[in-house]
Formats: sequence, C-alpha cells, structure tokens
Amino acid sequence: LGKTIIHRESIDSTQFLAHQTARDGAAHGTVIIADEQTKGKGRMNREWHSAPGKGIWLSMILRPQLLPYLAAQLTLLAATVLADVVNEHIGVRPQIKWPNDILINGKKTAGILTEMQAEQDQIQYVVIGMGINVNQAEVELPENISYKATSIRAESGKEWDIKELIQQILQTFEHAYESYIENGFPEVKEKWESYGFKIGEMIDIKTMQDEWRSEFLGIAEDGALLATDREGHETKLYSAEIKWFE
Ligand code: BTN
Repeated sequence: LGKTIIHRESIDSTQFLAHQTARDGAAHGTVIIADEQTKGKGRMNREWHSAPGKGIWLSMILRPQLLPYLAAQLTLLAATVLADVVNEHIGVRPQIKWPNDILINGKKTAGILTEMQAEQDQIQYVVIGMGINVNQAEVELPENISYKATSIRAESGKEWDIKELIQQILQTFEHAYESYIENGFPEVKEKWESYGFKIGEMIDIKTMQDEWRSEFLGIAEDGALLATDREGHETKLYSAEIKWFE
C-alpha cells in the first residue's frame, strides 16, 4: 500500500482523481494525496472542507477479491485504522460514530467516504477517501455544518507533522488490511466495537424512510448497524444516520 503515491498541491477532490486513475488501471494500493481540495466531498453529498496544509486529504485505491456487499467492512476497517493511529500516535482515545466518523471528545475530527465500482458479483475497485482535520486552530474549523467539528490540534493542544501521520496511517492500514484478508471480519468488529460510540445507549436513527429512537446494540457479523426497530426487535441497517442527545 502506498508504493505509488500521487501527490497534488491543489485538486478538486482526491476521490475524482482516484476513480480516474483506477479506471486507467492503477494498481491495488495506489494512494492519491492533496494538500488542498477545492471540492472536497463528504458522505451524503455534503461538502468537506479541506484547507491547504491543515489536514490529511487522501484516497486509496483497493482491489479486494471480495463480494461487493462486503465493501462496507472495508469502511469499518478504515475507521479502526484511523482510531488506532489517533490512539497510539496522538495519545488520545477517540471514538467511532457509526459507520466511520472519528470523534475526539465527542466532536468529529475525521471522516471516511467509500465508493465502489462493481460489475455483477465482482468488485472492480474500491476508493477509500479519508479526511482528517489535523492542524486547524479552533477558529479555522467549519461551523456551518450539522455536527461539531474539531481537529487533532484543537484536542491535543499542539501541531502535528502531516507527512509522518500519513506514513502511520498507510502502514497501519496495510497491516490491518492484510490481517482482515487473512482472518476475516471478527477482529475488525471487535476493535470497532471497542471504539464504538454510544453502544448500548439510546440514539436517534434516521433512514431514507423513517426516523425513530432506538437502542444501539453494536455491529453485525457483516458490518451492518445493529439496533432496535420501532417494536424493540433487533434489526440490521446498512444505510442510516445516527444522532444522539447530549
Ligand atoms: C464524511 O465524513 O462525510 C467523509 C469525508 C471524506 C473526506 C475525504 S478527504 C479525501 C477524500 N476526497 C474527498 O473529496 N473526500 C474524501
């Protein structure tokens, strides 16, 4: 992973270039990194603020031999990788808000956007985009968004070497990925749940069709969200937003 790194000072979105590069045949493990994105993309069509030199904006191209529905597991894997790097390298214990937001002290410091190209029952490639707020001062963080944003600097009280953090992430990801391919999802699930935010607590779940108050039970063997439905029965969700109360 990261044997080929494509670096741009400024780009619309590393996701766009990753798709293009993958379509052109880029190898598994190719990584696109930018200092600045002018059209950073978040989940649910939201924008992602990617100020120059302040954070890590990267996209990885993966070519796993997996069934398409298992790509969700890669997203959760990526979240555990970022959580491990924050925990071990920065020295603060983060939490993961389902499916893949990294929170420090309850505020969002990183997000992951997974996009997949599949044909029939085969993954052509997966692009995992990671956005990590690193060196923004509190006043530089975006405010006009639906959640509270933070940066590693704002929570740890100092600035960090972005290049070094990228190295840590790529290395940690490589190990975690190999172990996942070899041993499957159980280890990832266990680690994810050890960082999981609000497991065992009441949350608000919003899907395309419905919104209700639910107990967050954890994640399923396939990576789905496990929670109670309106009747209190256990249910699995693949696409939803969760909210909670302070
Ligand atoms: C989210 O939490 O909504 C996901 C944010 C993902 C942002 C990253 S930054 C690198 C890559 N390029 C993008 O345009 N988006 C992802």
